[in-house]
Amino acid sequence: MKQPRITVVGSANVDLTFRTPRFPQPGETLTGHALHQGMGGKGANQAVAAARLGADVTFIACVGNDAFGQAAITAYQAEGIQASFIRQTEDEPTGTAAILVDDEAENCIIVVPGANALLSAQDVQAASAMFEQSQVVLCQLETPVVAAVEAFRLARAASVLTMLTPAPAQQVTDELLALCDVCVPNKTEIAALTGHTIETEADAVRTAERLRDRGVKRVALTMGGNGVLILDQSGATHIPATKVKAVDTTGAGDAFTAALAVSLAEGMSLVDSARRASAVAALSVTRIGTQTSFPTLKELVEWIDRQENA
Ligand code: RIB
Repeated sequence: MKQPRITVVGSANVDLTFRTPRFPQPGETLTGHALHQGMGGKGANQAVAAARLGADVTFIACVGNDAFGQAAITAYQAEGIQASFIRQTEDEPTGTAAILVDDEAENCIIVVPGANALLSAQDVQAASAMFEQSQVVLCQLETPVVAAVEAFRLARAASVLTMLTPAPAQQVTDELLALCDVCVPNKTEIAALTGHTIETEADAVRTAERLRDRGVKRVALTMGGNGVLILDQSGATHIPATKVKAVDTTGAGDAFTAALAVSLAEGMSLVDSARRASAVAALSVTRIGTQTSFPTLKELVEWIDRQENA
């Protein structure tokens, strides 16, 4: 099979993860269990997860001209990612995320964008040749929307599939959504885009339909332990979550999106791709950390085998 080619446009952060028994109340000081430092950012996470699953990945991003930015580029190169379109700027430091993970494996994240905020349409244009060679282009919303719009325009012009993770949750213009082939929101993000909250499975279908009314072609709505809802031309399909003991859910959405992109690039249907991506996300939440939790293709195959024979 030909190696899938994926271009990712998005954020690169340093993640500082604080393990805590529970989330603090306003004004409260808590003693945590542990601190981990690693690479993160929704764009970088998707690039790394896709590369580990066997894709040929180009990552377009902006980091600071500092030790974190250099360490990030070195780490992506070690993953086999094409990193020559990552710009280093003197004007802002590399983006940073403070992540709290509690004993229930839930997380809260604060991101200070830093250099991510400087990613421009020109940065994307500088890599225009990479779009024509890709099967899928992935964007998120931790970098300016103008960069995502430019990426999707170039992708559409080259008949390349466009996928959007609309995170962090925010309102976006119809211009971006109209250029999106597959939108991968969670419940918070789809509420921000449609103004509708989800309580039941019927709400999930209705809300996904409203998102489609805004211009996206297909929806893969991730609902954590409640699985994934796919809305495509054949209607709605619910995919239950694989039951696992979660220790850290940070980055699971990014691992899901990357695996979805790789499977679509390999020619699988959206529903089959979502089944495989759910397994990748499930495996990732059984491990601590963000990029440290993403499996290689070999690890994924072995893990699925063990699940089926358990
Ligand atoms: O989706 C998880 C990511 O969100 C973390 O890696 C953090 O950097 C923030 O971007």
